[in-house]
Amino acid sequence: MPVTLDITGKTRVFGIIADPIHHVRAPMVFNEMFERTGRDAIMVPLHVRPEQLPTAVEGFKAMPNFGGLCVTVPHKVEIMKLCDTLGEQGRLIGATNAVRFDPDGRMSGDMFDGKGFIAGMRCQGFEPAGKSVLQLGAGGAGRAIAFALASEGVSKLVIHNRTRDKAEELATAVKAAYPSVPVEAGDADPRGLEIIVNTTSLGLHDEDPLPMETGLISPEHLVAEIIMIPVETPLLKAAKAKGAQVHYGRHMLDEQITLIADYIGA
Ligand code: ATR
Repeated sequence: MPVTLDITGKTRVFGIIADPIHHVRAPMVFNEMFERTGRDAIMVPLHVRPEQLPTAVEGFKAMPNFGGLCVTVPHKVEIMKLCDTLGEQGRLIGATNAVRFDPDGRMSGDMFDGKGFIAGMRCQGFEPAGKSVLQLGAGGAGRAIAFALASEGVSKLVIHNRTRDKAEELATAVKAAYPSVPVEAGDADPRGLEIIVNTTSLGLHDEDPLPMETGLISPEHLVAEIIMIPVETPLLKAAKAKGAQVHYGRHMLDEQITLIADYIGA
């Protein structure tokens, strides 16, 4: 659907920074939301090279009608170092994907991948607090989701990753941040656990192997994805065939957009 924003001198400007920039979807998603909700705002793609990030940030700070940023590859870690304040998840994860410029000149950042996942579960009526979870994957997205699950008070978190060291490292970091939550690196065995979350990239491509032995899934499980396309990953198809409940990848992004919009004041 084409967006026909009515841009005036009062319109507040937001941006998404990336390198490369051509693939970003935030302008479409945010501008559609601005139009739908009648907000006088626009989001534009801003191509910022890594070496120019500090210069670009100084420029954003210099513009009073510039509200904030969505941040993606390769800037998520570097922009965090330029922030004056960081939200808890951003600090723990060591990366930010949203940055806000406050009227007092301060720049604040936080990471919403994990919070978006949690909000997405809740919007579908699934409550992670108090539940035991098998998380598959300990990459960038897995890191964010593990900290968010722990911050919500899951009863147990088992992290499985192909590269076991990364699962051990992440489990140690999450345990240090949330000592009351039992967290461990382990096998991809969901028996005795309630929720399975796939945070690996397996399922994005037709030729991908499954991220776990799906014969171990039972009707009591909730199986969650963060992959948006395909909607029905082989893991979700297998989970449905086993009679398990499934949770689709798109909810994480949908809810994250709302959280980021609130954060950056969009
Ligand atoms: P993202 O930022 O999307 O999370 P990432 O940081 O590259 O991407 O993480 C990808 C995740 O998928 C990791 O957990 C990765 O496992 P490794 O840490 O062992 O690389 C997992 N992954 C990717 N390809 C995989 C494969 N063929 N088999 C098992 N796990 C795989």
